[in-house]
Amino acid sequence: WPRNARRDDGALTIGGVDVRDLAGEYGTPLYVYDEEDFRSRCREFAGAFSDGDVYYAGKAFLSTEIARWVAEEGLGLDVCTGGELAIARHAGFPVERIAFHGNNKSTAELTRALEAGVGHIVLDSFEEIARLGYLAEERHVRPKVMIRVTTGVEAHTHEFIATAHDDQKFGFARETALEAARRVQEIDSLELVGLHSHIGSQIFDTDGFELAAHRVVDLLVAIRDEHGVELPELDLGGGYGIAYLEGDDPLDPKHIADNLRGIITRNCRERGLTVPRLTVEPGRTIAGPGGITLYEVGTVKPLDGLRTYVSVDGGMSDNIRTALYGAEYTSVLASRRSDAAPMLSRMVGKHCESGDMVVRDLWLPEDLAPGDLVAVAATGAYCRSLANNYNHVPKPAVAAVRDGRSRLILRRETEEDLLRLEVSP
Ligand code: LLP
Repeated sequence: WPRNARRDDGALTIGGVDVRDLAGEYGTPLYVYDEEDFRSRCREFAGAFSDGDVYYAGKAFLSTEIARWVAEEGLGLDVCTGGELAIARHAGFPVERIAFHGNNKSTAELTRALEAGVGHIVLDSFEEIARLGYLAEERHVRPKVMIRVTTGVEAHTHEFIATAHDDQKFGFARETALEAARRVQEIDSLELVGLHSHIGSQIFDTDGFELAAHRVVDLLVAIRDEHGVELPELDLGGGYGIAYLEGDDPLDPKHIADNLRGIITRNCRERGLTVPRLTVEPGRTIAGPGGITLYEVGTVKPLDGLRTYVSVDGGMSDNIRTALYGAEYTSVLASRRSDAAPMLSRMVGKHCESGDMVVRDLWLPEDLAPGDLVAVAATGAYCRSLANNYNHVPKPAVAAVRDGRSRLILRRETEEDLLRLEVSP
């Protein structure tokens, strides 16, 4: 619970605001972002990579307000769909600091990226190379492009969020990356500036990042030797793990930066290659730790000899990570102090299936009762952005807190919002 404190009466605060006031003003479930936490993480990364670039990965959580924070802190922005691009544009995010990713960008999305003038487009397939080349030529523009490569690294994380092993959908395998570089260079309307690699997400050890760094430098050397060009940029993606549970030990941005810079500089110098400018794309590390979700307890159902099922007013529609990846979270009673004995609990949602768990195993006080507020920690990344309308549940609001004040940054969806899509009378 970084930067959270308890009031004398036991109520949790975030950014100096009492969670009871937040729930009273905006309702529950509620996502709450500590603005100073988010911004200070941006600054920490920017400082650690001051001789390179840091792009915030918007997929972790993006709204116009968040895009504004990212822009003000001087970071770039990684978007991977037309929707994310639209939010960035709506926020007035500087287009030259946007990188557009994705393994299947549509012609319409590529066209919008070109017309907006985004700074970098990361190419993911031979079809896309040809498609973008044609679209750029037609518009008489010459976008900066990178080639996404898969380094064959097995990241130590959940299968669904590992992205550089051989059998997955992203990028070019080492052997075909050389051919991709050749093709891009043959197209006058594309300016090849670098390689991109992202090995996966929620990773705690540096081995995978180091191996990927070695392998991309190998590729830079091969591209120089075979095609006679030295690429000036190298993007090593994101993926740095955050603490969800006590005992999780996140990497320090400065340590990551020194480590990667050291490997790349040494490797390049040994092989007579100009050291490329390094970019990273942290998402979870920036948005995750400073976000919490507040829920109201609706029912408390003890099952003899097993555990107590605590139902809250949200669930897998606002946090699907527990069901999808077996993710683990920390949660506490937030609206008051309790000295009651701990009871083995499972925090579940209101959806119509048993997999609808927010926290699979946790200890909550025995006197927990309907109306109590509970808070789940570290839900700032990949919770609102993965939110869905299962069972026609409207998505929760998002509030930001800073210096003891709060404000709404995304309003709660309403049933009218859902009904607006219906075409029948
Ligand atoms: N760059 C690229 C190209 C990516 O694909 C991703 C994440 C990132 C950067 C940011 O990674 P981060 O620093 O946030 O780990 N929904 C999953 C995570 C999916 C990550 C997808 N790509 C989850 O909830 O764990």
